[in-house]
Amino acid sequence: MAATPTFENPFRPGAGHMPPYLAGREHETSVFRELLRQSTVMQNLVLTGLRGVGRTVLLETFKPIAQQAGWLWVGTDMSEAASLTDERMATRLLTDLSVRTAAITLSREVPTATFLGKASEHQRLDYGCLTDLHGRTPGLHADKLKAVLEFAWECFRRQRPPVRGLIFAYDEAQTLADNAADKEYPLSMMLDVFQSIQKKGVPFMLVLTGLPTLFPKLVEARTFAERMFRVVFLDHLTRDETGDAIRRPIAAAGCPLRLSDQGIDNVYDLSGGYPYFIQFVCRELYDSAIQNYARATSDFEGTFREIVRKLDCDFFSGRWARVTDRQRDILVAIAHLPNCHTEFSVQEVVEVSGRQLAKGFSASRVSQLMLALSEAGLVYKNRHGRYAFAVPMLGPFILRQVG
Ligand SMILES: Nc1ncnc2c1ncn2[C@@H]1O[C@H](COP(=O)(O)OP(=O)(O)OP(=O)(O)O)[C@@H](O)[C@H]1O
Ligand SMILES: [Mg+2]
Repeated sequence: MAATPTFENPFRPGAGHMPPYLAGREHETSVFRELLRQSTVMQNLVLTGLRGVGRTVLLETFKPIAQQAGWLWVGTDMSEAASLTDERMATRLLTDLSVRTAAITLSREVPTATFLGKASEHQRLDYGCLTDLHGRTPGLHADKLKAVLEFAWECFRRQRPPVRGLIFAYDEAQTLADNAADKEYPLSMMLDVFQSIQKKGVPFMLVLTGLPTLFPKLVEARTFAERMFRVVFLDHLTRDETGDAIRRPIAAAGCPLRLSDQGIDNVYDLSGGYPYFIQFVCRELYDSAIQNYARATSDFEGTFREIVRKLDCDFFSGRWARVTDRQRDILVAIAHLPNCHTEFSVQEVVEVSGRQLAKGFSASRVSQLMLALSEAGLVYKNRHGRYAFAVPMLGPFILRQVG
């Protein structure tokens, strides 16, 4: 029996786990660098894409780039709880801001008295100090927040070495929402506040990442959001980039088992170039390759079939189990559309359902079903009123189920 090669499987399928090699994404990174060059912030960033496409890890790589360019960086995951009320949103922003302002000691040069009443000159601009200022500013939450952010910038501006600006980075920002029933508008408030302070020259930039529903939500809340954000849609990797994502970690780990060009093509076809799937498939592939190596056997095709089964079971089957029979019928019909992996119209779904099913769907029935599927997170309506699958590679999965 051959000795098991001693190398650690480098692939990391997981939410937010930095990949062993981050392939592609040069364009997206250059857009971000461009935004960092703004002296007056006219454009903020929305980084959007399907589940597992690599939003979180890309955002993570933006942080040191921003810091090197002299920007400060704050932020976290945007939770639903943070955007329930205006007050919670204010707390979220002040909490994040305070991480950076706490290092500032108020000095004679800052117009402390105007803002902080009797606050001592040597006081740190910590969370308590920020909320105190917020509480004592008259007006609505938006007015209070604007005052605090402008004051914070007054303080940052005087720092040495100079601060270029501050980035508020929020992942999973599609959870942001206004709540008209309770007369709470935290999303609109956030947009109003940033637009207003940016107009006054405060270089605080928003970087929001989220599912493709994010940008339409922002525009629905405030139409000016359309001009306020540069939208970058993260797509799957190309075939070459997929090759890099696989070969480079293998070489770096010193693994004696190399995947052939054909093997890489197989991974690309199954994963569609979607980063999570690449990591998943390669993790499995290399785990079993190491075992097979030890047993001096090799059955790539058999192993690959097993991996497809595991992917279907781990990633897709839970979602598939939750849809009703009628929803399943329409999803099967859509999976037969040649453009199911990009976008499709209600009319196209009506037509393909007529061809694929014993009894096709009417346009109004399709619209109803699409609404239900949107709520289930399986499709979404894009800005042009067309639909798309919200889960990567859903089409091929469905065809595997019915094939
Ligand atoms: N450019 C890339 N090259 C190689 N692997 C990548 C790349 N981007 C992401 N990955 C890998 O893909 C997986 C998903 O990445 P990440 O969690 O950042 O995606 P996401 O879009 O934030 O997903 P989610 O919808 O779960 O929030 C991780 O295992 C990560 O290591
Ligand atoms: Mg993520």
